[in-house]
Amino acid sequence: MKVWIDDGLRDGDAASVPVRDHGLLYGDGVFEGIRVYARRVFRLDAHLGRLELGTRAVGIELPGGVERMRHVVLETARAFGGDDAYLRLVVTRGDGPLGIDTSECGTPRVICIADELELFSDEQRRRGLALVTVSQRRPTPDVLDPRVKSLNYMTSVLARREARLAGADDALLLNRDGCVAEASVANVFAYRRGVLRTPSALDGALEGITREAVLELAAGLGIPCSVERLGRIDLLGADEVFLTGTGIEIAAVRSLDHARVGTGADPVPGPLTRKLEAAFGDLTRSSGTPL
Ligand SMILES: Cc1ncc(COP(=O)(O)O)c(C=O)c1O
Repeated sequence: MKVWIDDGLRDGDAASVPVRDHGLLYGDGVFEGIRVYARRVFRLDAHLGRLELGTRAVGIELPGGVERMRHVVLETARAFGGDDAYLRLVVTRGDGPLGIDTSECGTPRVICIADELELFSDEQRRRGLALVTVSQRRPTPDVLDPRVKSLNYMTSVLARREARLAGADDALLLNRDGCVAEASVANVFAYRRGVLRTPSALDGALEGITREAVLELAAGLGIPCSVERLGRIDLLGADEVFLTGTGIEIAAVRSLDHARVGTGADPVPGPLTRKLEAAFGDLTRSSGTPL
């Protein structure tokens, strides 16, 4: 593991955060999970754009601006050295007093961690993921705008925990209207009768970078796509359901609330999911910002 913190690189074990950091005390900050494939950073501009949007929304000034963040990401990835890596770029409000007032916080803190990541085993992917609907609800933009990838991940943490305690691989989170928002750290897609659908940020979905790439790839394959409101029934009645995310990439869903999704055929990834997995694999290895 390699870590950039404040203004330079450290070995993983030597990196630490002061106890007065408001990211630690209050989850006051934003972050990005970014992948490096074959020594190219996948969709770096999109990640930096989302980070910048988030910092503007919460009133954190990016130290050195977006170009400085680009430098930090590239330097950390280079120092890590692997062909493939997972990067976690974090910007916190910085150190401040023991109160939530932001006015006395110092310079925002920049952290970038480079490591390896495996969220689900090959075996889990082959059989497809089991999802359960959990009691946690994803906030809609009037509460905590899902377009801000903030450090406050308690909803996702508790959702995943509830799903795991129920014996499932991951959680399906609904919003307060009972409509589908997303999984704990991934977007959800349903494919039925030739149309690919995924919920919008207005229904509580993060505007995922992988989601965007998948929508582009599907359109390139001639598949009509729609960002729209979905209910559980749209997943239960779908021909194929899959999750997307930087960590998870594209992962087929086998069941929702113990009901088998799709045709029930094995292996689970249906024809469209397999096509998109292949196209996504090509895209990640042929595009991106070189290190
Ligand atoms: C809550 C949530 N939704 C969706 C995603 C997927 O977004 P992306 O494809 O940008 O990684 C993530 C990724 O971390 C997430 O945390």
